[in-house]
Amino acid sequence: MKTKIFVALDVETATQAMEIVNDLQGLPIGFKVGKQLFTATGPQLVKDIVASGAELFLDLKYHDIPNTVAKAGIEAAKLGATVFNVHATGGLTMMETTVKALHDKYKTPPLAIAVTVLTSMAEEDLQQIGITISPEQQVRRLAKLAQQAGMDGVVASAKEIKAIREECGDDFVIITPGIRPASSAKDDQKRVVTPSQAISDGATALVIGRPITQAKNRREACEAILQEIKSQ
Ligand code: C5P
Repeated sequence: MKTKIFVALDVETATQAMEIVNDLQGLPIGFKVGKQLFTATGPQLVKDIVASGAELFLDLKYHDIPNTVAKAGIEAAKLGATVFNVHATGGLTMMETTVKALHDKYKTPPLAIAVTVLTSMAEEDLQQIGITISPEQQVRRLAKLAQQAGMDGVVASAKEIKAIREECGDDFVIITPGIRPASSAKDDQKRVVTPSQAISDGATALVIGRPITQAKNRREACEAILQEIKSQ
């Protein structure tokens, strides 16, 4: 993974997505395609973005039996994704089987990243599904399990980075959303940090959506963020 920024393409159509990709063409960034856009447009858009030369994070959060997730991971690799993700709650065997299938087939497979606890889940939500430890303890547990399975890293909010670095060390990849440059609106994100703060806290790469995609001048907004994290 070369890029430190994945721009979240949270739009409805391939045309809207490619407009953003074209506006940012040539900048050292990648793009994140998630469930909404992928469900709407299918894999051709992913291929088109990869063909534009950008790195692609396929954010489909697989969670299924080991064989199915491993095969989905292979398909993500075939599409040319640089990063894809799974839910760590799918378990050790699911993650191990996926990592093994990818390494058996590819010399440099895409990075396999785990989602630990969705940041939309509070203590009470975890209790409702039978998890009685705190969200932070659950994040620590699942990050360690992912590492044990051979996964490359996790998606995590900035406030979880310290705990994950304690559990998993410095080489584990941490991809962090919830980023807002000091000058931009928070939108619906409740806890946000600035790009430079997230990098200095230990994030490996950032996911940034609306501060770039809804900016008047997307390229300038993106260049300003790249400058901010470069001058750290
Ligand atoms: O527009 P914004 O920068 O808020 O977009 C953030 C992206 O990161 C969205 O695609 C969102 O789904 C994703 N994300 C997040 N918080 C998480 C996990 C993923 O905002 N905990």
